[in-house]
Amino acid sequence: MEFINPVQEHLQDVEDRMRSRFNGSASGLISILDQLICLGGKRLRPTVTLLMGKMLGADLDHLLDLAAAIEMLHTATLIHDDLVDDATLRRGEKTINATLPPVASVLAGDLVFAIAANLAAATKSVRVMEIFAETLATMVNGEITNLFDNKPGNDREMYFQWIYAKTASMFELATGAAAILSKADVEAISTARQFGREIGMAFQIVDDVLDFTGSPADIGKPVGNDLRQGVFTLPTLHYLETHPEDPDLRSVINRNGHDEESLNRLIAAINASDAVNQSMHEAERFVQSGLETLAVFPDILERQALEELTRFILSRTK
Ligand code: IPE
Ligand code: IPE
Ligand code: MG
Ligand code: MG
Repeated sequence: MEFINPVQEHLQDVEDRMRSRFNGSASGLISILDQLICLGGKRLRPTVTLLMGKMLGADLDHLLDLAAAIEMLHTATLIHDDLVDDATLRRGEKTINATLPPVASVLAGDLVFAIAANLAAATKSVRVMEIFAETLATMVNGEITNLFDNKPGNDREMYFQWIYAKTASMFELATGAAAILSKADVEAISTARQFGREIGMAFQIVDDVLDFTGSPADIGKPVGNDLRQGVFTLPTLHYLETHPEDPDLRSVINRNGHDEESLNRLIAAINASDAVNQSMHEAERFVQSGLETLAVFPDILERQALEELTRFILSRTK
């Protein structure tokens, strides 16, 4: 992950800004949240934010607060997401959901959302605060729609709207807000947002593929969990098109109890089918668009790092 190099020196500062905001919070959850933040993860969103902001000449202090705000927002959504998905593993460690009652995940997520908003306000940009709030609304509305409407068998269009809402919108916020802090012109801000959207779409498609092809040891979270939750992501939608009568698929669609055997057979069948390749091709198209979008910016170190990060999205295994 050499693309981190141009901003490596700032990532510790971003982490410090995140952790310092816990001061004064109720102590019950602090050590748990602190641990989750120290575990790190890939730090892809703050890296994108910093690279975009540095490329366009943003004020560094405000940019660091923005990067911390975005990673905090991401952390909050992970905490709530693990409750929604009933996931027990995150970043290779037990989730809050696995160790404490549901209310702890709700409250911990809320606290982290509040800190994220505070960090966004520290950028002193009303426009950044506005798009921060708009993005949060987009994400929550996407989850609500998914909760009520994304029943198995729903179509690709709905899938793409859903992954935009839950993932690409946050990347769009990261790149767009970084451009705003750089006092870039309207066109550059819109290009930056578009780039974020494109890599965000690719990122989530690959995440959905890794839920089939990855190993828990590599990705630090459970695999097969999407289907287990009855959630149809792109590989399953592709498989459904070519194997509509697969009895295991029918049994998942009809939710005939929790038949682990047929679920495991189905996951293996999807893995062995062309569905994974087809999904990766779609991710590749978003990556290609992302690279083309990026090409309008000056060819400097940060842009090259953003290009590398964009390609990394396709090759990642964790
Ligand atoms: C996980 O994001 C949530 C998705 C949007 C797929 P990451 O894979 O970036 O998680 P961390 O931060 O590296 O743990
Ligand atoms: C990620 O979707 C969406 C979030 C906003 C956290 P997933 O449910 O696929 O994320 P993972 O796989 O649990 O990280
Ligand atoms: Mg999840
Ligand atoms: Mg996933």
